[in-house]
Amino acid sequence: MNHAPIDQTGAWQRLMEHAEEMRTTHLRELFVDEDRGGAFMRQAAGLTLDLSKQRWSDATLERLLDLARAVEVPQRIQALLNGEHVNISEDRPALHTALRLPPEAELVVDGEDVVPGVHATLDRMATMVARLHARQWRGATGRPIHDVVNLGVGGSDLGPLMVTHALADYRPADAHHVEVHFASTMDGSQLADYLTRFNPETTLFVISSKSFTTIDTLSNARTARDWLMARLVEDGIQGVDEEMVMRQHFVGVSAKPDKMSEWGIAEANQLLFWEWVGGRYSLWGAIGLPIALVIGMANFRELLAGAHAMDEHFAKAPLGDNLPVLLALAGIWNVNFLDIRAHSILPYDGRLEHFAAYLEQLEMESNGKSATHDGRQVSYSTCPVLWGQLGPNAQHAFYQLLHQGTQPVVCDFIAPLKRYDDVEDAATRDHLKAQHRLTLANCFAQSRLLMLGDDAIDEPGERPGHKRYRGNQPSTTLLLDRLTPATLGALIALYEHKVFVQAAIWDINPFDQWGVELGKQIAGETERMLADQHGHEQMDASTRALLEAVWRAEGGSDR
Ligand code: F6P
Repeated sequence: MNHAPIDQTGAWQRLMEHAEEMRTTHLRELFVDEDRGGAFMRQAAGLTLDLSKQRWSDATLERLLDLARAVEVPQRIQALLNGEHVNISEDRPALHTALRLPPEAELVVDGEDVVPGVHATLDRMATMVARLHARQWRGATGRPIHDVVNLGVGGSDLGPLMVTHALADYRPADAHHVEVHFASTMDGSQLADYLTRFNPETTLFVISSKSFTTIDTLSNARTARDWLMARLVEDGIQGVDEEMVMRQHFVGVSAKPDKMSEWGIAEANQLLFWEWVGGRYSLWGAIGLPIALVIGMANFRELLAGAHAMDEHFAKAPLGDNLPVLLALAGIWNVNFLDIRAHSILPYDGRLEHFAAYLEQLEMESNGKSATHDGRQVSYSTCPVLWGQLGPNAQHAFYQLLHQGTQPVVCDFIAPLKRYDDVEDAATRDHLKAQHRLTLANCFAQSRLLMLGDDAIDEPGERPGHKRYRGNQPSTTLLLDRLTPATLGALIALYEHKVFVQAAIWDINPFDQWGVELGKQIAGETERMLADQHGHEQMDASTRALLEAVWRAEGGSDR
């Protein structure tokens, strides 16, 4: 792709000029316009997006839409959804949207309709889930599986972890209770805890790894395998052999069937997905097995349907009403024109506890790039630093910085409009609904205070410096009608597409992650050095000293 760098286009220059005047405009001045609330509010797929507290005007948005048109965002969206090779560095499509197409759809990619394969995998997942829910999946000693541990990291962990937590209320009533757990860290902390508590006879491990080479996951998997073998085979439980343990205690989810077989996963227990699904975009298929185990297959399909509704909206809504496009443009405006390069994700709902961590990977691994499609270094900022945690807890932790620090930060406030009306006990229901109201009040109060600063209260007289609030911190508010499988699906898809639109504008590839590869290689070399106590002479002084500290601690040589 050869075209002028985006920051040299007329559309970008017009935004730069416009930013000159907007930079000195305080949000409170923009709110002189009484109609502003509704003017920047849009709805789709059970979500309401309020962008009125962005430091922008109609004129800004018009210019940003011109920028989107200049980089042909509508055509890029179609290319993504049609399965063109938008992942240029790896020469393949990025077809997570195909994972949520309904069965009657057709999508021919590189000469093949991918939809039947997608649904065949969903059907295999459904069979596994049904067996586990019916207590028919038994361990090697014949006892039904009770604990399922997902071993995976990054996209093979964060999405399922986030969704199972968010939708834990959606457990199907008629299903046998299977407890789902996650172990991701290579140091074995989470796994070690499970191994002390769980019964090997009733524990199943799901090894989730697109590449099936990730050392973090494979070292947890090896520890788990040895634990099972030691307890079930070597302790001599009658009639149990290694093959039975592998067949009844391990499921593999990967794009690499040969590697799964080599590792010992029985073919019947292999769930496959495709190279054209990026790891951090993969929760919609086989990687979502833990989700389906918690919420059941019907609810899992609702999650897919919600995401598909957002895909349809993304494909069809005009740019100016298109939620992912608008969210992306607000981000571009903040990063590239207002120099706001910190972005906080603040859900006001405890069920979304892991949402920020999930988005950290989605956004920063996708768009933390500085090379354009044709290999040039960008001359503008790309992905901001993104972090967050539950808003109510963050109020007591880092909101101080948001209100009175020196960093400009943009915040995404996320909350459901309704909650708890299905709680049976009336008194508890009333209490919980009141807590929900309190939470919404905090959410709205914080975004208002961040916007207006001191003007949020009517208090006469000059305030001392340490009590002043400057305001003018922009924010987005995202309201879900309720938190359901469908609205959560739409919410995740909204952010996926936002990332895609921003990448299109920045001319970077959101679907590769070469930036993490060298670290893996060097970690391998360092591990060998640590073990062999050899080769460190060539290292820098800091690494040498750190290695020597380990050897001293181990009581080994102090070379
Ligand atoms: O190293 C980064 C990464 O490749 C992520 O993109 C991915 O989600 C994670 O590692 C896990 O990869 P895999 O699913 O192949 O084990």
